[in-house]
Amino acid sequence: MEVLHTIADYRAARAKLEGTLGFVPTMGFFHQGHMELVRRAKAENVHAAVSIFVNPTQFGPNEDLAAYPRDLDRDLAMLREEGTALVFNPTPEEMYPRGYVSYIEIGPVSQPMEGTYRPGHFRGVATVVAKLFNIAQADHAYFGQKDGQQVAVIKRMARDLDFSVKVIVVPTVREPDGLAMSSRNVYLNAVGRKAALCLSRGLFEAQQQWAKGVRDAEKLRQAILDPIEKEPLARIDYVTLADADTMEEASGQLARPTMAALAVRIGKTRLIDDLVLGGVDL
Ligand code: PAJ
Repeated sequence: MEVLHTIADYRAARAKLEGTLGFVPTMGFFHQGHMELVRRAKAENVHAAVSIFVNPTQFGPNEDLAAYPRDLDRDLAMLREEGTALVFNPTPEEMYPRGYVSYIEIGPVSQPMEGTYRPGHFRGVATVVAKLFNIAQADHAYFGQKDGQQVAVIKRMARDLDFSVKVIVVPTVREPDGLAMSSRNVYLNAVGRKAALCLSRGLFEAQQQWAKGVRDAEKLRQAILDPIEKEPLARIDYVTLADADTMEEASGQLARPTMAALAVRIGKTRLIDDLVLGGVDL
């Protein structure tokens, strides 16, 4: 496994690889969700490349950039185990050198939900992912359904800007009790960890209702809200049903696969989760 810290070094190492390359962009501090993406990349391609970069442009001024959990040595050991060929781990200065002024704005798909609560977030995500796609030169790129709106934004960007890399979506990996794995789960204490279960409980309830044939958006939304509203530590940012591709809010009788997405704060920890009703997660 080669660990490259500059774009030039990565490019030189990439050029030496023969056969297909699967690429997994990450911000590190791996859990089994990340590792599932790496395993898929390795299984479906001759080589796997992973980037580890805590991207400053996708964090708002009052967000957890400085506190974002990091453990590079542990991450590299985990990647070595999976037989990863290349790790790209640049500094912020390497990615955004002095004079950097170019950003990618994605239209309506990036505006509701996370876009509303984290202004500028998807501008930073789209910009860094476009740069990483150009650097990585991969055949396939792997993203988790856990960040459902991010998936929709990246797919839209790849289509609109003619990236040839194929975007592949991997189902959310969960703890045995249902909590979606997230680097931010380490912020939760024991009480918060229990309270956090209300997110997946609500989504699973909606999924069960969907399986029983319920298609009324308001009914499904209320099924998600019920366990969250009963949890005294939970503060809801949003609970939304949206078209899985455009992120347009869905209402009335649902005819197409619909993403049920939510963001909930447990104390100071902000958690997101989603499920595609009628989609791959069913
Ligand atoms: P990060 O939060 O490190 O996540 C890296 C990838 O892992 C994303 O595609 C995310 O959706 C996926 N992932 C996280 N938790 C998961 C889980 N429980 N199950 C399955 N996949 C999971 O997302 C980012 O980094 C950044 O925004 C990035 C795309 C790297 C751009 O900076």
